[in-house]
Order: sequence, then C-alpha cells, then structure tokens
Amino acid sequence: MQTTIFEKSVEYEESGQGLPLVLIHGYPLNLTMWEPQLRGLAEVAHVIAPNLSGFGKSDPVADVNMGSYADQIRELLDSLGVTEPAVLCGLSMGGYVVFEYLRRYPNHVRGLIFANTKAGADSPEARVGRDNSAATARAKGAEAIAEAMLPKMLSPKTTQNNPQLVQRAREMMSSASKDGIVAALMAMKDRPNSTDTMVDLHKPTLIITGADDQLIPPSESENLARGITDSRLEILPDAGHLSNLEQPELFNHAVREFLRSLG
Ligand code: MLT
Repeated sequence: MQTTIFEKSVEYEESGQGLPLVLIHGYPLNLTMWEPQLRGLAEVAHVIAPNLSGFGKSDPVADVNMGSYADQIRELLDSLGVTEPAVLCGLSMGGYVVFEYLRRYPNHVRGLIFANTKAGADSPEARVGRDNSAATARAKGAEAIAEAMLPKMLSPKTTQNNPQLVQRAREMMSSASKDGIVAALMAMKDRPNSTDTMVDLHKPTLIITGADDQLIPPSESENLARGITDSRLEILPDAGHLSNLEQPELFNHAVREFLRSLG
C-alpha cells in the first residue's frame, strides 16, 4: 500500500488487528523481509511494516537521519489512525531507528523489540567504512553492496541448506536504490550513541538475535540485555543477521510470548 507522508510517497504493508506492532527493516533491505511476521503474527497483533525512505517504493528524502526515519513512522501511524502506544520492532538499522523513535515519542511506545542490533554509535573505522560503501554504491550500484554483504548476512547453516533464502536476500539487497543506500549509510554513520537511552529505558523489551550473526555479534545483544532492566534475551540457533527469516517460527514464537506478557 502507498500513502503520502511529508509530501513523499511511503509504502507499507499491514495485517491483523489489535496491539500495533511496527516492524522496521534493516539495511539495505526492505519491508518484504518481514513476510513471515506479517503472515505469522497477524492473529495476535496489528502488524505494520513500512519501507524507510529510499527503500522499496518509498520516495527517497534528501539528508535523512535516524530522526527523519522515526518522524516518518510516527506520521504513518497517525495517518493510519493508530493512536494507542505501539510495540516497535527494529532489525539492525531498524533498531537504530527504534532508539530514535523512543527518544522522540516515548509516550507512543508500549514495548520494544531489538533484533540483531546494538546501542553504540559507529567507531571511527566504521565511519570510514560507511564512506567506502557509499562510494561503492555510487560507482557500482546495489549489486556490489549485496555481493559484499551476503557472505556475512546469513548463518553457515542457512547458506548451506537454504539456497532460496540466500537468493531472496541477494535479490532484496540488489533491488535497493543507490539513493536509498547512500542516504542510509550516512544516517547510520552519523547516528548518536544510544547507550544512555538504553540504560534509561523503562519499557518492556525483547532482544532477539542469531547465534551466528557475523555483522552484529550476539555479544552486542547481551550488552543490550545487561543494560535494559526490563528485558529478555533470545538467541536463536542456526540464525545469522536475518534471524526473523532464518528462524521464522522461533522468532514469531518469541514475539508472541512477549506480546502476551504485555497483556
Ligand atoms: C543492517 O543490517 O541494518 C546493517 O548491517 C547495520 C549496520 O551496518 O550497522
């Protein structure tokens, strides 16, 4: 579905009814990564999955940052008539957006799900890496980014046993627009450190990751679990960076239990 937010076209999908559950995709992915959740969680929640600006059929926006992504999501929820506090779930870069949403709209948050993500900002080396990736994207396009990231995206078991998912991840990343990729890289490069936000966070929180995540290792999720008082950590076996796609049943089970615990 398409709607207009801040004069830009924004694509989103939704399913189910009840407690709003907003799913925010990672980089350089798009909302189709949430297909198992849009289908599998529809009986327990009103699932809403937007495409961040510049991804899928959401128009690119000049000079995005985590704040503009968060504002766009808040506006989208308003336009859908979602006024009750929502559960925000972000995978990887989506988690960075969730931290910003929480800083801006704490009263609109019922609970949080941090998947394969971390609280810290980019190190100086990582910031240089963002510039290099942006140069690669500009010169060679999304396919080059996809090929560079793919070997680290999935667990060894997924890579070996699930060629369909490997292909799906490749296609998803390759379909990203250059503008969307470069804007997201700059937004990640400049994102603030969310460690204080994590420590001050008084919202029920579920943390999920894959035991074999090579991009953001499980130790980062353990840090989140140590830092967030009201949190619970699930480390899914044989899953890498795309834990929701690699272990959809276990992922959905953990989310269902979490939503149930919110009452
Ligand atoms: C993501 O999956 O969203 C990115 O790998 C996160 C990052 O590069 O920091």
